[in-house]
Amino acid sequence: LGQLRIRARTSLGVDINGVIKFIKAESLNPLQDALDFDPNLKSCEINVVDTFEHQGTFFFPGFIDTHVHASQYPNAGIFGSSTLLDWLETYTFPLEAGLKDLDNARKIYNRVLDKTLAHGTTTASYYTTIDADSSNLMAEICAQRGQRALIGKVCMNQNSPDYYVETLSECQHSLNKVVDHIRNKIKDDKVKPIVTPRFAPTCTSELMAWLGKTAQEHDLHIQTHLSENKKELEWVKELFSESDSYTEVYDSHQLLTPKTVLAHCIHLSDKELDIIKERKSGVSHCPISNSSITSGECEVRRLLDHEIKVGLGTDLSGGYDVSILATARQALLVSRHLAMKEPDAAKQEHLKLSVNDVLFLSSLGGAQVLDMEETIGSFEVGKQFDTQLIDLNSAGTKVDVFDWQYAKWSEKSRDDENKKLFEDLLAKWLFTGDDRNTVSVWVAGKQVFSSVN
Ligand code: GUN
Ligand code: FE
Repeated sequence: LGQLRIRARTSLGVDINGVIKFIKAESLNPLQDALDFDPNLKSCEINVVDTFEHQGTFFFPGFIDTHVHASQYPNAGIFGSSTLLDWLETYTFPLEAGLKDLDNARKIYNRVLDKTLAHGTTTASYYTTIDADSSNLMAEICAQRGQRALIGKVCMNQNSPDYYVETLSECQHSLNKVVDHIRNKIKDDKVKPIVTPRFAPTCTSELMAWLGKTAQEHDLHIQTHLSENKKELEWVKELFSESDSYTEVYDSHQLLTPKTVLAHCIHLSDKELDIIKERKSGVSHCPISNSSITSGECEVRRLLDHEIKVGLGTDLSGGYDVSILATARQALLVSRHLAMKEPDAAKQEHLKLSVNDVLFLSSLGGAQVLDMEETIGSFEVGKQFDTQLIDLNSAGTKVDVFDWQYAKWSEKSRDDENKKLFEDLLAKWLFTGDDRNTVSVWVAGKQVFSSVN
């Protein structure tokens, strides 16, 4: 966090399973590096992607979207002046219910994959809908298109519209169906089910207890929403008056584990942060959503100071943008709004998230939240090659870099001055870049997107 590792003049070798086998600094010839690593390889078996001659081109770890409602994609940008609870009733539940139609779901989910991959998202933790068949379809599409994904069939059995709700036993049946389909039919290590109680108000205590038990029995990830909106907090207090806090509602149903992703976490007490830390659960920070449906400003620095894992979520379509780059930018801006409201000048600086901070949240931070730090999130020997190739000069881009700004940083990779120059280029990417700069994307070493088809 806050640090950036730049590997100039470095070659990196990936095997057929997508595992990074070597990383060699001061490389002169990547083909030779591969042959040095394994003399039994034949040159024709090695595929080289070389960025060295091309200024403004670099690899960055694939983005990790820790919270995205795939089913809500058609509503991206459509939220009017609503806030969470009326937004759910007016915009969201009717849209989600319509995905029971498999043709509709197929179109929407394929489009989500088109867009997330083109924006460099190599791993996503998805919410689908309550419907098992279309959730299974989404899992198939992710496997087919090669994205690393958690598939969350949504669970809700109370305080939901008649046209979009399950009973406890229907929900148990459909979740079992999705877990079985993904594990025993799709059988792709990269695609996993995730237990998804929508949020406490729409789940009975009985349902949450069963979900906690099921997650434990099958060693499953869990995701839900926590402390997003003030009216939601009051509602939870009324519904679960026996619990001391919103966080304890989940904790008392065994829903807080090291594999739990908690979206939003805006209005939490210190005691609640202690519980989240203790349980080693992670937070998905969704700044575009929080600003759009005016939920509030998540105090990310406070979470990080509490040693809580934090990643980024687009939260489509509470959030309007499929891009994790745009979400990182908004995370930086929201932290500055918090800083502007802080009267103590010394604390102000600390509240501001830097470019390096938010790019950490977009990659390694997300990997920590999904409990996948051993496999993804950065370039390390033994990790998967989940990567995007960025070109700051690609056609039509908003990024403008003058020749003198490049300053040939690659020639003097090790000195601090050139590290600073490269950090400036990354800042340009964060603030002025978009999907036009993402020219190629790989998941587990396999190319899943290319802008030059
Ligand atoms: N809380 C319960 N459901 C939702 C949802 O779909 N989106 C967001 N942002 N918050 C929720
Ligand atoms: Fe959400």
